[in-house]
Amino acid sequence: MDRTLIIVKPDAVQRGLIGEIIARFEGRGLKIVGMKLMQIDEALARRHYGVHEGKPFFEGLIRYITSAPVVVMVLQGPGAIEAARSTMGATNPVQAAPGTIRADYGLEIGRNLVHGSDGPETARKEIDLFFREEELVDWAREADRWILE
Ligand code: RTP
Ligand code: MG
Repeated sequence: MDRTLIIVKPDAVQRGLIGEIIARFEGRGLKIVGMKLMQIDEALARRHYGVHEGKPFFEGLIRYITSAPVVVMVLQGPGAIEAARSTMGATNPVQAAPGTIRADYGLEIGRNLVHGSDGPETARKEIDLFFREEELVDWAREADRWILE
């Protein structure tokens, strides 16, 4: 089963949108197999967003993601990576489709509320970065037979 790493970013936590954002993923049927509130330190932020090092927005991105607590989650389900990304919407909230998290709650790319892994390899790396193996719970959900064929 596919897994993805989601971060409810500092702006979303500060704006009281944790529940709203989790509900979007949960309602879609993705299963939460890991979740915690934490403050990302600079070293972790630089590793997580390492692919963007050197880009003009990088330092601002590091300041943003370390500025306040976040909620990190591992979601599991068929096509979890793509499903989560489509629920999030395009990186720039102004271009995101209505009904997506970023469109419904955001206006600027630098305050776009949520992160989701962009591929299987990235997902594996990001999950390892944020969670120890024993923090992930592979649980049987009673509703699964009504969500998954
Ligand atoms: P994320 O990694 O946070 O899920 O976002 P993404 O895949 O949709 O977009 P990505 O290209 O990976 O960019 C990472 C984050 O950097 C900030 N950003 N700012 N000012 C800019 O031009 C710019 N471009 C990217 C955003 O916060 C974006 O989510
Ligand atoms: Mg990305």
